Amino acid sequence: MPPAARILARRLYFFPHDLIAKTKGNNLLKPPEGMIYTGGGDFLETGKRFKDYFIKYGGLLPSDHVLDIGSGIGRLAIPLTDYLTSEGNYNGYDLIAQGVNWCQQNISPRHPNFHFHQIKLHNDLYNKDGLDASTYSFPLDQNSQDFVFLISVFTHLIPEEMAHYVREISRMLKPGKTCFATFFIHDDLLPEVNDAFSFKHRKEIYSLMDPKVVSANVAFKKKYLFQVFKDSGLQVQHYFPGYWRDTGEQEKSLDFQDIVVLRKE
Ligand SMILES: C[S@@+](CC[C@H](N)C(=O)[O-])C[C@H]1O[C@@H](n2cnc3c(N)ncnc32)[C@H](O)[C@@H]1O
Repeated sequence: MPPAARILARRLYFFPHDLIAKTKGNNLLKPPEGMIYTGGGDFLETGKRFKDYFIKYGGLLPSDHVLDIGSGIGRLAIPLTDYLTSEGNYNGYDLIAQGVNWCQQNISPRHPNFHFHQIKLHNDLYNKDGLDASTYSFPLDQNSQDFVFLISVFTHLIPEEMAHYVREISRMLKPGKTCFATFFIHDDLLPEVNDAFSFKHRKEIYSLMDPKVVSANVAFKKKYLFQVFKDSGLQVQHYFPGYWRDTGEQEKSLDFQDIVVLRKE
């Protein structure tokens, strides 16, 4: 289904549920179910869990200047509103107007140091139009950010876009500061996968789940990916393999996707 039709179908499906929730007058800072286009799971629980990881493994501080690339509809921004102080600030960038607008209308008025921006870039899963992400420059100064994160975003970027974003992140981070990101990472051998979730279309440095929608799910070969980090001046501080591989050891992973914590040299 095309991206806009997918988003509309979800809104219609959840319309009765969201109407009832609205009439009950819920004050919780959370988008209506029908507007959440950014993945399954418990929206608030997932956001809170990642906030805890940011603090525990990424050293996120309340006064940090934070950049959220692929901010979606505020899943990670919402829990940070209770953590970042007025000394800190947050900037989120995303392609999809529905998510950016909801955050601008519902988060920024209550938390004026939270800013959301739409960037009109192409991604064949999310936006059929738009400019090439592999040449996009974020409008943030060199050495200006303390903490950059991308949750379930590099899993939708092709290698040129991913490598360009890694270089951009390195440019924007202050020396010694952190990037926290999720990926699908594999070695030379095809990892153990279940049939419903497998990267069968293998290329030299990456693999795809569906060659018809290239950005649907992208996995990178570890050796290539870690070389991109190194070439961009980012050191791997932590690597937590995810349970997408179906190893039967789900409890040992932090998340379904692989997590990498990087530090700028
Ligand atoms: C699976 S959603 C995750 C959203 C959010 N990070 C979260 O965890 O809730 C992926 C998001 O990445 C955004 N995206 C895709 N390509 C992008 C790009 N080149 N730059 C920034 N965001 C992008 C999509 O619009 C979408 O909102």
